[in-house]
Amino acid sequence: MTDKPEAKESQIWGGRFSRGPSAIMEEINASIDTDRRLWREDIAGSKAHAHMLAACGIITDTDNAAIQNGLDQIAGEIERGEFAFSKALEDIHMNIEARLKEIIGEPAGRLHTARSRNDQVATDFRLWTRQVCGEAEAALKALMRALAKKADAHADAVMPGFTHLQTAQPVTFGHHLLAYVEMFSRDAGRFADARRRMNESPLGAAALAGTSFPIDRKQTAKALGFDRPCANSLDAVSARDFALEAVAAAAIAATHLSRLAEELVLWTSPHFGFVKLSDGFSTGSSIMPQKRNPDAAELVRAKTGRIAASFDTLLIVMKGLPLAYSKDMQEDKAATFEGFDALALALTAMTGMIDDLEPDRAAMKEAAGRGYSTATDLADWLVRTLNMPFRDAHRVTGAIVALAEGAGVPLDALALSDMQSVEPRIDENVYAVLSVEASVASRASYGGAAPSNVKREAERWLATLSKES
Ligand code: ARG
Repeated sequence: MTDKPEAKESQIWGGRFSRGPSAIMEEINASIDTDRRLWREDIAGSKAHAHMLAACGIITDTDNAAIQNGLDQIAGEIERGEFAFSKALEDIHMNIEARLKEIIGEPAGRLHTARSRNDQVATDFRLWTRQVCGEAEAALKALMRALAKKADAHADAVMPGFTHLQTAQPVTFGHHLLAYVEMFSRDAGRFADARRRMNESPLGAAALAGTSFPIDRKQTAKALGFDRPCANSLDAVSARDFALEAVAAAAIAATHLSRLAEELVLWTSPHFGFVKLSDGFSTGSSIMPQKRNPDAAELVRAKTGRIAASFDTLLIVMKGLPLAYSKDMQEDKAATFEGFDALALALTAMTGMIDDLEPDRAAMKEAAGRGYSTATDLADWLVRTLNMPFRDAHRVTGAIVALAEGAGVPLDALALSDMQSVEPRIDENVYAVLSVEASVASRASYGGAAPSNVKREAERWLATLSKES
């Protein structure tokens, strides 16, 4: 790597330097390719800071007006794609400040009074994270709405419920979808909690110790929508647990998304055939003309890796850092951005798939009857009707299932005489509980799979979600 002795010293911090950074120093130091995404937050923070400096008599109103106009002009330039970002200017903060100097001259140099890039970046990053937590919450609610709508439409569509991916007991498609609504509502709650906790302003903590200028941190906190200023200047510039909490919530939500994605992959396979995705959400194979692949579901499943990795990355960046700021913390943003980008895409794609999918009710019902899924209903009938202890009923039912298996018939097609050969007190009333419909209808305990419960729950969710949107 060649040094560039002729490189100019940084115009922002180069006062004590006689030469500029080497090429590799500039390369490793620059974060502009990543943190340029923070331009809106950076300009909002600077505008609030300048207004406060003027209100506190630290800069003149004339200088403040020039700063405000200059920052508005820069926002327009960036918005229109006209802004020339420079690696030599390291990061978004110095890129904007340098441009401000070009536009308004001397007053630009007064903006950084009572401020450091340490509290500046902490503020920008909090504002950004607060915003994406709100967006993730809204996207989760859109997904929950799509799920609740499908659940409402298919509250009574019988499907096999699984444990160990083996047929267990009949449930309904609506009940299965509402299980995800519960999970995603907790995810939304985690983003709301994180958002509330992070809503304190680091601005005015300056480099690490606060400032000798008579600033008003409450004013800038309020202007930026924070509940209050962070109470400790060292914590204000060093804390990144707000981002950790946000990406942790993202990683948990991604885990839920990947489980649902996996179910879509299974359900759309011809071996299950429970669900069909339209052409809009299927892809073909370049060699096998018959294929309809659920690529979007597979990619949602895979995105979980990136999202969980963003939590790992951030955790490891922060681990063991002494107070206060260290440059390590510049690596916080790429991970967080990547995690939230992937989450947004996965949530939107999943909502699209849920809206799109059509369940094959007949296929699901047929599958629900396979695998002796109503064996528990038979055992429960023995308990209820013959007052048998459940453990004995379990053994008797097992023997009857073995008979049916031997005869190659489902339980409700086994002859009464065969059942009576195991337990003579069984009568023909038993058949009423052996169908899959009777089975789900009987699961009317609170939170159970009975269609009446599912319908009520789907409608409760739809009402709650329509109030919140
Ligand atoms: N680009 C830096 C970051 O993202 C800004 C803070 C720089 N502060 C400093 N003392 N070098 O962390």
